[in-house]
Amino acid sequence: MVSFTFSAVALLAALLSTTLAQTHTDCNPLNATGCPNMQALGGNATFHFNDTMSDSIWKEKNAGKIDWSSKGTTFTIEGRGDSPMIQSTFYLFFGRVSVIMKAAAGQGIVSSAILQSECLDEIDWEFLGTNTTHVLTNYFGKGNTTDYTRGKDYPMDPPQEAFHNYTIDWTRERIQWLIDGRMLRELKYEEALGGKNYPQTPMNIRMGVWSGGDVENNDPYTVEWAGGETDFKQAPFTMTVQEVYAQDYTTATEYSWENMDASGAWEKVKVIEPKEGEKSEALQEIEKPHGVRNRWEALSKGAKIAIIASVIGFIVICACFITFCCIKQRRAGRREFAALQAEQNKEAAELLEYKRQMASGKFGYGNQI
Ligand SMILES: *[C@@H]1O[C@H](CO)[C@@H](O)[C@H](O)[C@H]1NC(C)=O
Ligand SMILES: *[C@@H]1O[C@H](CO)[C@@H](O)[C@H](O)[C@H]1NC(C)=O
Ligand SMILES: *[C@@H]1O[C@H](CO)[C@@H](O)[C@H](O)[C@H]1NC(C)=O
Ligand SMILES: *[C@@H]1O[C@H](CO)[C@@H](O)[C@H](O)[C@H]1NC(C)=O
Ligand SMILES: *[C@@H]1O[C@H](CO)[C@@H](O)[C@H](O)[C@H]1NC(C)=O
Ligand SMILES: *[C@@H]1O[C@H](CO)[C@@H](O)[C@H](O)[C@H]1NC(C)=O
Repeated sequence: MVSFTFSAVALLAALLSTTLAQTHTDCNPLNATGCPNMQALGGNATFHFNDTMSDSIWKEKNAGKIDWSSKGTTFTIEGRGDSPMIQSTFYLFFGRVSVIMKAAAGQGIVSSAILQSECLDEIDWEFLGTNTTHVLTNYFGKGNTTDYTRGKDYPMDPPQEAFHNYTIDWTRERIQWLIDGRMLRELKYEEALGGKNYPQTPMNIRMGVWSGGDVENNDPYTVEWAGGETDFKQAPFTMTVQEVYAQDYTTATEYSWENMDASGAWEKVKVIEPKEGEKSEALQEIEKPHGVRNRWEALSKGAKIAIIASVIGFIVICACFITFCCIKQRRAGRREFAALQAEQNKEAAELLEYKRQMASGKFGYGNQI
């Protein structure tokens, strides 16, 4: 049983770093040069996952349905192949993240809230849809999946039935996983292969749901690990996120890979600090009012009246223009019709005249034929 759990964890790990887009990297700085700078959060922010969220901060990925409502954001698997997720455009370079969420129920359905870097450092919370007694914590250093002791399960109340606060506190010395303020696990730097497998490069936040129990797209071990085959007739399977708190332990505007070497060590990450009195683009974006409704509500009464007046004015102008064009068109049409008729009358008259002249033998040889 234990060995099964271990191999399942390893399989999941392999899966997470290969097939799942959730663990995708566009440019691995350990392999490629010139990977782009990352936007830093450079401060702290609370995101209410409602319909007034900024879509320039949270990017949607993969197939599946994501609904932003006033009650929270839902990630829904409606059928085979769906694995809806979002990821933050900003990165944290050591920091703290709390996700207030409810996991999806359903056989083979896996909900997750993770931190991940472009060179595949990773810190995870994971929930199996039919496991109502345990949550899985995990971590990866540079996508290294060869060690089977990283994943650990912890008992808790059913994560599918109520919202809980899942917090990761990540410093260069240690990682802590907390549920509703209760610490479950602590991992020290040295414990992760003397630091070599310790997550230590800027990470963004990724949350979503996928079906490990999809027998057409996963091997039997993954299906078994995920709790068995998913019956898509039971869909939809929905995970809900209500709030995310993110705190970056630097005040940077950006992080750069320009000094990075094969070590992937935190010392090689370049932290670009803001100029005096400035803040990161992410913080500026977060502080703006978002969503159409929110932006409208933020306007003054005068501005609202001006906008309504210009919209009405615009409609009136359009209506006048269309009417004018129609009248002009009809007049032009009438003129063209009259001209055409005159032309036809003229031709008819000419033909008549020709026939008359033929008959009267006006043309010299007319009668000789
Ligand atoms: C670098 O790229 C090669 C080939 O694409 C791949 O096999 C290797 O795993 C990559 N290394 C890292 C650290 O990503
Ligand atoms: C961010 O951190 C500062 C200082 O630690 C604190 O005063 C502030 O309340 C925090 N903001 C949020 C949104 O939590
Ligand atoms: C949505 O969240 C914002 C804060 O980001 C809050 O001000 C607003 O009241 C919330 N709206 C609803 C409908 O809950
Ligand atoms: C939930 O996970 C724990 C830890 O892996 C395991 O012992 C337990 O049997 C699982 N329960 C179900 C219903 O799968
Ligand atoms: C990956 O982790 C294993 C087990 O901890 C270790 O033996 C191996 O050296 C690591 N590989 C790399 C490339 O760090
Ligand atoms: C979530 O838990 C963390 C850690 O205990 C705590 O600092 C934070 O205030 C909690 N957030 C909410 C919204 O309760």
